[in-house]
Amino acid sequence: MAEPATDVYVLGAGVKTPDHLTLETVGALRRSRLVFSIYPLSDEVTHQLGLSAELRCLLPMFESSGLRRDTYQAIAETILDAVESARPVAFLTPGNPVVSDSVAQHLLSQGKARGFNVRLLPAVSSLDTVMADLTFDVSPALQIYDASWLVSHNMVPSVHAACLLLQVTTFGTALTTMGRTLRAGALAELGEYLQRFYPPDHEVVFVQSETRFSPGLQKPLPVCTLRDVEGVIPGTLYIPRLRDPEPDLAFGARMFDKEAFDAKFERRQKADQHPPTSEVDLPNA
Ligand SMILES: C[S@@+](CC[C@H](N)C(=O)[O-])C[C@H]1O[C@@H](n2cnc3c(N)ncnc32)[C@H](O)[C@@H]1O
Repeated sequence: MAEPATDVYVLGAGVKTPDHLTLETVGALRRSRLVFSIYPLSDEVTHQLGLSAELRCLLPMFESSGLRRDTYQAIAETILDAVESARPVAFLTPGNPVVSDSVAQHLLSQGKARGFNVRLLPAVSSLDTVMADLTFDVSPALQIYDASWLVSHNMVPSVHAACLLLQVTTFGTALTTMGRTLRAGALAELGEYLQRFYPPDHEVVFVQSETRFSPGLQKPLPVCTLRDVEGVIPGTLYIPRLRDPEPDLAFGARMFDKEAFDAKFERRQKADQHPPTSEVDLPNA
């Protein structure tokens, strides 16, 4: 049965655009009649990608100093209203649309409520680029929090696993911060909160991955100096783990036991020998 036609594409531009656009995303952009993006695509990029869609830049909608949630709702309504006159419509958002993107979530829920077929595609997130910049493998554990949510919900980060805090530049406010920089003291509450779990000299790192607008940057500092941070800062804070967790030695020993292995894992039949990629034993899997 043919798939129903897509009305709304929710697409990620990656962090360094256009280099991070996937072929799948470029295909969806080519099929779209109208593309809304937060940062405008240059004529050169549009030409390079072979796009014929009308492009609309959403940046002016962020420039009021209202509540961010109202801006996101208004943007989603603008995009969904446009479907009536031109479909498919695409929303091209920075990074991956399932990483901290309220507009994408509104499009999914409200688009469905309006009877539209909304299709979201995966993309390169700043989570990917930050970890690549740090050459840090997310295995065996990684915690990810929105910085304001961590504090406002009294979350307890595990000191045994590395942690990424997103949205540090909007810490402690629901208002739009576009066009503003941090005053000294703006991150004092975040610093104090983290020091409930980490010693004052625990080194954290602000990480900015390279974009088409700015070079990559890493700024290490002791957690106690977060209160002094001011100006333009990278939005993601990496907190290395403080100490190794205690392993369960008996469980660890069982993982090397051949009998326990045979008891749990049955050999596949010959015809069934090609596992899906997700099951392939990659290094460290
Ligand atoms: C609203 S969230 C959107 C994230 C986006 N959907 C993604 O997948 O990267 C914005 C946050 O992503 C992180 N971020 C975005 N671009 C970044 C970059 N170039 N370097 C480091 N962190 C970035 C920051 O934590 C920032 O506050």
